[in-house]
Amino acid sequence: TEKVTIHTLQTMRAAKVPISMLTAYDYPTGLSCSSNPAIDVTLVGDSLAQVCLGYKSTTQLTLDEMIHHARAVARGTTHPLLVADMPFGSYHGSLDDAVNNAVRMVRESQIEAVKLEGGDEIVDLVHRLTSAGIPVMAHVGLLPQRHVSFSGYKVQGKSVASAKAMVKTSKLLEQAGAFSMVVEAVPKELGRYITENVTIPTIGIGAGPWTNGQVLVWDDAMGTWLGHKAKFVRRFANLQTAREIGVQSYASAVKDGSFPDPQRESYTIDKAEFARFL
Ligand code: KIV
Ligand code: NA
Repeated sequence: TEKVTIHTLQTMRAAKVPISMLTAYDYPTGLSCSSNPAIDVTLVGDSLAQVCLGYKSTTQLTLDEMIHHARAVARGTTHPLLVADMPFGSYHGSLDDAVNNAVRMVRESQIEAVKLEGGDEIVDLVHRLTSAGIPVMAHVGLLPQRHVSFSGYKVQGKSVASAKAMVKTSKLLEQAGAFSMVVEAVPKELGRYITENVTIPTIGIGAGPWTNGQVLVWDDAMGTWLGHKAKFVRRFANLQTAREIGVQSYASAVKDGSFPDPQRESYTIDKAEFARFL
């Protein structure tokens, strides 16, 4: 399978071939994304905080934790373009600190691009990073790192004023050098409008069918949890049920003594040898 590059994504956008992006958090999920040639981008999302580490919010994730997991994903990644979220707080101080943190992510985790949530206030940073050769994927619409300021995880851009502001911001991020843009939880009409008004590939999550690509969180798509399901999620597998059946079967086989089988699942010593041993 050919390595996916930023250029590949631009080509796909031009040819109207939908871009598929999926999150990964460790070596096995990284391998799974790489095992299918139809996955174009692997994202080490900071959703890592909730779905893998049990935090309540992405704001609890540290840069060191992100680097630790992104390294593992990178070890399992072959053809997909590998992108990772800059964690909350790692790009909110000075521009120099943010650049240093992005450099750490690239150098220590072998990721190829960083994703940043935000609007006009991160435009200078996007410019700095892209000038330094660190590709940036922007992220507009619902910004989970700001769920407290947003008073919850809500659909964005439903009013004319907020939709207009989002379109303006998207253009600024494009001009600042972002190579692509995630658009999260907006009406499908706005997902289409933004896609038609920027020239970089848009990747939607809850942004309707007309963005240039789609992204889902691994655990939502694979059903590793069967808890809350947002409207925009579709479950493509039910790993939780499969896993629970497996755990249950293992535990009962241990409890009823049927595992391990003395023949098939155990080692044997030669009889004569064993007699001398006794
Ligand atoms: O953290 C994440 O998984 C994300 C995607 C849902 C876009 O940012
Ligand atoms: Na994220």
